[in-house]
Amino acid sequence: MRIYLDHNATTPIRPQVAEAMSAVLHAEFGNPSSVYEEGAAARARVESARAQVAALLGADTSGIRFTAGATEANNTLLFGLLEPGDHVVTSAVEHPSISEPLGLLEGRGIRVTRVSPDGDGCLSSGAVLDAIGEGTRLVSIIWANNETGSLQPIEEICAECRRRGVLFHSDATQAVGKTAIDLARVPADFLSSSAHKLGGPKGVGALVARDNTALPAFLHGGGQERGLRGGTENVAGIVGYGLACELALVDCAQREESYGKLRDRLWMGIRASIENVRWNGNPARVLTNTLNVEFSGLAGEVLVQALDLEGVAVSAGAACHSGSIEPSKVLTAMGRTPEEARGSLRFSVGWGVDEAQIDRVVGLLAQMVPRVRAVDSP
Ligand SMILES: Cc1ncc(COP(=O)(O)O)c(C=O)c1O
Repeated sequence: MRIYLDHNATTPIRPQVAEAMSAVLHAEFGNPSSVYEEGAAARARVESARAQVAALLGADTSGIRFTAGATEANNTLLFGLLEPGDHVVTSAVEHPSISEPLGLLEGRGIRVTRVSPDGDGCLSSGAVLDAIGEGTRLVSIIWANNETGSLQPIEEICAECRRRGVLFHSDATQAVGKTAIDLARVPADFLSSSAHKLGGPKGVGALVARDNTALPAFLHGGGQERGLRGGTENVAGIVGYGLACELALVDCAQREESYGKLRDRLWMGIRASIENVRWNGNPARVLTNTLNVEFSGLAGEVLVQALDLEGVAVSAGAACHSGSIEPSKVLTAMGRTPEEARGSLRFSVGWGVDEAQIDRVVGLLAQMVPRVRAVDSP
């Protein structure tokens, strides 16, 4: 049996989710826009999923706009909201689905300030707020980083943005389902989420808005999603996303704690059996499921391949950049040298992972790291 420790890349789909989706795919093929019975049944499915997503996030159902994942949610926000002359404050450790669109928008007259994190990947709320100035339309800060799991001071930044009348967005794709998020308490104007990071299917997610009137459609077409997102709804995907959200709400705190125990067991095992390792992140300020470790003096991609041959899936840098051996931009923004970044691996646990698997991975690493260091140092 393989050991899957890459839950930040994607999660295995929860069996109940797959079953619910399969029932929709097989028996409920209606188009939610159709006015007859089949359409009404599909519409009811979509709306009950909307309520499930809203419940997990503490949001109003009217603010949920289903998308084809977090990349679309982020693009919808940035291309829909920003106009030439606007200023955006963001971080240097955003996912490419934020940083790439912002790079394009910079070429169209939008000003962007990227705030750097500290050596643990954490932003200071003061530095983010100090960057707000004349014409700042939006502050967009990732809730939890996909590579390191580093958590940002979202609550403080959000509250102050609200006080100053600046729109606030968080790409919460990695945080949703892994840690509690309550938009009633943290009143972000916009939030992005994706189903496949919490036991749901790929290709579906949501942009959540406090007030949808501020943000026009990005995809224009048949007026679906109350005119906010054209295109026939991915009904089965939306049903799966809704159920994944409902399941994520059950025992959320206990799950967060149990992932933390597995993650800490992995770190303690690594630290006890391998020399010259460093945790890329502040243990007190990362998602409990994530451990990013630098094994100095080796090429991370070689270790990833060696582990893969032994049945273990982990990642060197983000999966979205796989195929590329460029050092991680997140780690270099944290001050790591390209060599240090290249020697770093991300382990991320989730449902289905147990202590025996963690111990096996520690044992494999203890054997492999000295060998890879001897043969394959970069
Ligand atoms: C923080 C973050 N934002 C956005 C995305 C993109 O999500 P999707 O795969 O749903 O487009 C990811 C996926 O890796 C992510 O980790």
